[in-house]
Amino acid sequence: MRILVLGSGAREHAIVRALLRDQTSDGPAHEVIAAPGNAGIAALVETVKLDASNGRLVADYARDSEVDLVVIGPEAPLVAGVGDALRRYGIPVFGPDKAAAALEGSKSFAKRIMQAAQVPTGGAVHADTIDEVAEALDRFGAPHVVKADGLAAGKGVLVTDDRQAAIDHASFYLQQGGVLIEEHLSGPEVSLFLLADGHDVLPLSPAQDFKRVFDGDAGPNTGGMGAYSPLPWLSDRWPSEADFVDEVVDRVALPTVRQLEAEGTPFVGLLYCGLIITAEGIRVIEFNARFGDPETQVVLPRLESSLAELITAAATGGLGRLPYPKFSPEVAVTVVLASEGYPENPITGRPIRGLAALEAELPEGVTVDHAATTLVDGEYVATGGRVLSVVARGADFAAARERAYAALGRLDLEGGHFRTDIAARVAQ
Ligand code: AMP
Ligand code: GLY
Repeated sequence: MRILVLGSGAREHAIVRALLRDQTSDGPAHEVIAAPGNAGIAALVETVKLDASNGRLVADYARDSEVDLVVIGPEAPLVAGVGDALRRYGIPVFGPDKAAAALEGSKSFAKRIMQAAQVPTGGAVHADTIDEVAEALDRFGAPHVVKADGLAAGKGVLVTDDRQAAIDHASFYLQQGGVLIEEHLSGPEVSLFLLADGHDVLPLSPAQDFKRVFDGDAGPNTGGMGAYSPLPWLSDRWPSEADFVDEVVDRVALPTVRQLEAEGTPFVGLLYCGLIITAEGIRVIEFNARFGDPETQVVLPRLESSLAELITAAATGGLGRLPYPKFSPEVAVTVVLASEGYPENPITGRPIRGLAALEAELPEGVTVDHAATTLVDGEYVATGGRVLSVVARGADFAAARERAYAALGRLDLEGGHFRTDIAARVAQ
């Protein structure tokens, strides 16, 4: 198969790696192309300069280069309708149409679907004016949860005890499609990914993301600073991880997919369930319409089934005929290296010293998924906020963490920062 992967992050690097794992006696079973990709992806497969959010350009390219399947990595192209453009040409695509991608692109839409499908989630009110915001904040009480209703690259959510900070955050996003004021929920968070073909779903293995920028969950929310998989602590509350996953399938993912199907906007692609485990049980805090970043970097290396087969079945209908995907008992940890100033004002253009040397002789169990990298005169240079994900597998979390942090210690990005406590608690 010829598979086109849209996007340029570490998530897409992980997706490309997983697609290349299917082998024939002559090498990789699939020809993978990435658009636009990054320097790490370009070391593995052909990359093409293409505006991934321009449906017309992407669809023309995919048709002219006889692509068999398109995987849409990030949310922006989904919300821009790139899936619709490809389906109009009859090209199989893993990623929902614009209408179903609203599950991520509009938090009010997601809440409405959850209500209709009786999916457990916290209370929420959409507000369009500062008066409505103030009223809702006082109704729910502190801690306050304020969310941009539309896309905000992981930065639209503020959780705070400071009422004025909540008002200020809301004022900013009121000009961009309104905000949601939510009931505050507490408990550990889980990211569970499910492949969906519009009717059936198949779950992957759960992961946990570290959203705050600094150790100890301090500082502002980011796109994600690290992750690990699986989640051994789930068996404190469920007989096994599989029972937890089954509950999410039955109470969250299937009802949501069936509701979208009934409304004539089938969800084909990756349903990302952002969950919180409260004292009262599982609650959805958000849906995304694509693989999570950085959770993908720890989930896909553990996947033993063929990713290409799974996403083809999702894109063409037929997930119901496949068994549950298989995962390695090995654990995986990823730590994100970010540029100085991330998430507010990342300083870019600095060399990533030691990266080429590290990749030339990767330690056992370690890979580096590039995010914002480019090659300038043979040297890697950081081009964005989240620069790369160091991924380490191991027999246990202590071993995986040791590998990940040892590898990070060999990299030198001026002003660069990373969290030192990723998966620390599960390693104890
Ligand atoms: P989201 O982008 O919706 O995943 O929100 C980012 C982060 O904000 C989540 O991972 C949670 O840590 C936190 N958060 C979001 N919604 C709530 C909520 N209703 N109660 C408590 N924390 C929340
Ligand atoms: N890691 C959070 C996200 O991908 O939205």
